[in-house]
Order: sequence, then C-alpha cells, then structure tokens
Amino acid sequence: MDEQQLLEGAKAVLEANDHGNFTVPASGIYPHQWLWDSCFIAIGLRHTDIDRAQKEILSLLRGQWANGMLPNMILGTGRQGRWPNIWRSWINPNSPDGVNTSGITQPPMLAEAIVQIGGKLSKAERHSWYKKTFPALLKYHEWLFNERDPHGEGLVLQIHPWEVGMDNTPTWMAEIKEHSQPLWITAIDKLHLGPLLNIFRRDTHHIPAGQRLDIIDALVLYSTLRRLRRKRYDFDKIIDHSMFAIEDLAFNCIFIRANQHLEDIARFIHKPLADDLKDRIKKSQLALEELWDPMAEQYFSRNFVTHKLINQSTVATLLPLYAGVGHKGRAKALVKLLEDKHLFGPEYPVPSVPLNSAWYKPTGYWQGSTWVNMNWLLIDGLRRSGFADHADVLSESTLEMVAQSGFNEYFDPSTGKPAGAKNFSWTAALIIDMIKAA
Ligand code: GLC
Repeated sequence: MDEQQLLEGAKAVLEANDHGNFTVPASGIYPHQWLWDSCFIAIGLRHTDIDRAQKEILSLLRGQWANGMLPNMILGTGRQGRWPNIWRSWINPNSPDGVNTSGITQPPMLAEAIVQIGGKLSKAERHSWYKKTFPALLKYHEWLFNERDPHGEGLVLQIHPWEVGMDNTPTWMAEIKEHSQPLWITAIDKLHLGPLLNIFRRDTHHIPAGQRLDIIDALVLYSTLRRLRRKRYDFDKIIDHSMFAIEDLAFNCIFIRANQHLEDIARFIHKPLADDLKDRIKKSQLALEELWDPMAEQYFSRNFVTHKLINQSTVATLLPLYAGVGHKGRAKALVKLLEDKHLFGPEYPVPSVPLNSAWYKPTGYWQGSTWVNMNWLLIDGLRRSGFADHADVLSESTLEMVAQSGFNEYFDPSTGKPAGAKNFSWTAALIIDMIKAA
C-alpha cells in the first residue's frame, strides 16, 4: 500500500465503524464507545472531518458522572450493543440518567484530543471549542485529583486494570495474582480447567484465543470488576476495604501531559485555574520522579497500599517521555531501552513488554504485541523531548507495519504480522495523523 492507499484505507475503516456521533473501536467484538479510543479516533478525524472529530468528543461527555468521572465505556444501545450489562452503573447515584456506562475510567486522553482538534481551528473557533469543552474537562481533572489522590501526594491511583487500558499488562496481573486473586480462580488454574471455560467467552468468537488474553487473566479482570460493583463503585468503600490499588505509570504520565494541556486551554480562554489545582499539577510532575528505580534505571508503577514500586518492565516504562521527563539523563536512559534490539527495539517496535520479559508472547495482547496508540504517544513524546530522529524512525516503522499488515488492533513485534481485531479504529485514525504530521 502506498501512502494514498493507506490514507484511503484508514478513512474507510473509520467510516465503517462510524455509529453517527461516535465510532466503535471495531465492529463485532467492541460494540460500545470507549473513552480513550474516541480520543485517539478524534485525533485522526480532525484531518478529514473536523466537525465529526468534535462530535466524537462531545458524545463522550454525555457519559460524564455527576462527580466528574468520565467512564471508560458508554454502552451501545443498538443491535450490536445487546451484551449482558455487567456494569449496572445505575447502582451509583452519580451515574447519568438514561445513559448506561461502566463504573470506572480510562487514561485521560481527553485534553490531548481537545487540543489536537483546537490546532486545526481558527483562533476564534478554537476559543469557542475550548470554552465549550473546558467545564467538563476541568470537572474530570478535579475529580481525578480529589478522589484518586486521596492523600494529596501528586499521583492518582487506579482500581482496575481496565482503567489503564492495557488490560492484562504484567504490572497489574502480577500484583493481583500476588495480593488478591480469588481462591476459585487459583483452583481453576491449578486444576487446568481454564480451557473448558473458554466456551463462555464472547471475544474468542471474533478473535483466535491465542491472540487474546488467557482465560485466567480474563477471570481476574471479571472478578475485580465484581468486587467494585459490590461496593457500588463507591470509592470510599472500595478504598476502606483496602482493595488493592495502583498508581499506574502510564495513566499518570498521560494525566501529567493532560494537565499541561488543561493549563494551556485555561490560559487561552482566560479562565485562570484555582491556585490549589495549580499546586497539585506541579506536585504531580515532581511525584513522577518518585517512580524512578535507580537500580533498574527505569520508571515503574507503584502499589498504592504498600508504596512499593512494582518491578515489571512494560511499555509504560517509556511513557515519561510523553509526560516530559525533567531529568535529561533519565530521558536518555529510556531512549537507550527503546534502541535495544533485545528489549524494546525489535523490527516492529514498540512491544508492550520487552523481549526479555518472562511474560513476553509475540501476540500476547498487552503482554508482548505492538500497539499503534502506544507508538503515537511515544512519537509525540520523543519529538518534544529532543529526540526527533527517533520519533521519525518509529513513525516510519509503524507506517510500514500497517501498510504491510492492515489496520489491526495489534501486531507481532518481530514480524509485523497482524493480530487481534481487523479494521481497528484507533490504528486507522492514528495512521492518518502520522501521515499528515510527517
Ligand atoms: C481493550 C483494550 C482497551 C480498549 C478497548 C476497546 O479492552 O485493552 O485499551 O480501550 O479494548 O478498544
């Protein structure tokens, strides 16, 4: 596929997945609206149809809870959306009337999407676009700080791996398995009964089981959700019962960048942020450095309860480049990891875990595969951190991989072969953005 064909192909994917005011991630397997998917999708759509990009973002806001939370999913209502509703979000009084949502959030990419769209508008249009979206964005960020950083330490915590968008990432899987895996799941694992349960899965009707997360991981995700649901998604109750929580590195990096955008937006529309909020924003940038492990020379996520770093290397390790690493030596150390062919630098980078990880499987979902959204974040971060050449190389290999393999959900880092859902929206959207930005 040449560049023009790639562009046309990407547009066709987005059109096919368009449900009017929002875009599904892929038809069949993902029939709902997801928070960070829509943000990435809007970043691509802004090049082809700016009104539709704005609509994508505004449609996300209908799911906002009264406390400010933006849910990771707004459930579809059409024929495709007839999944059993495992969330029952109405059990929490903050959930919106008449819109079924999940009860947890996802990485706060909203500010990035708003600003990227703003960059395509005239000054006057940008002003009204920012004014329109600012109240919801501000409320969301305030909720994150107030509810998810209960001790005011600077980092926000997450309560389910789905909040991080990297469902079975080793960081979370290792912690849950060590601290809070229910006995019934351990028994299923020990007795090797997992494969029998695969018949109850819906995802494997669409994608070969070998390319999805394994059944034990899937059960862990589901049982974690059930615990949150039992507490009616009431954060105080969840934390009081000392269910484990993680200050996730990827989530916090995205939040730090989002806060920089929030400040820019506020400045642009002359709506100064409260001093308290400004202080918290400053603090979170500094707190990121507490996640640096000098022995491993990497950043890690931290267990909120034990306050210990979780020594699992994943693609999140590199995301401080996107947040903005204050420390030049550390930024360089990350770039070195990225260059290393035995870690994060195979033929089609960036693998979701390094090649030397015990978790690594080439099509292991978030345990090995290359994802285009992670590449987009890193390309953007590398460019802003003074590594423009690295950004160009990563952008080229990503474009080559998708041109060869199609707009899949994820890819084998060694061969570039496609895996997961076909015609995946954020892959298409971010390819449009990479072409247009080149
Ligand atoms: C999977 C991914 C998540 C994404 C969702 C919809 O759960 O792990 O990041 O938002 O699918 O595409």
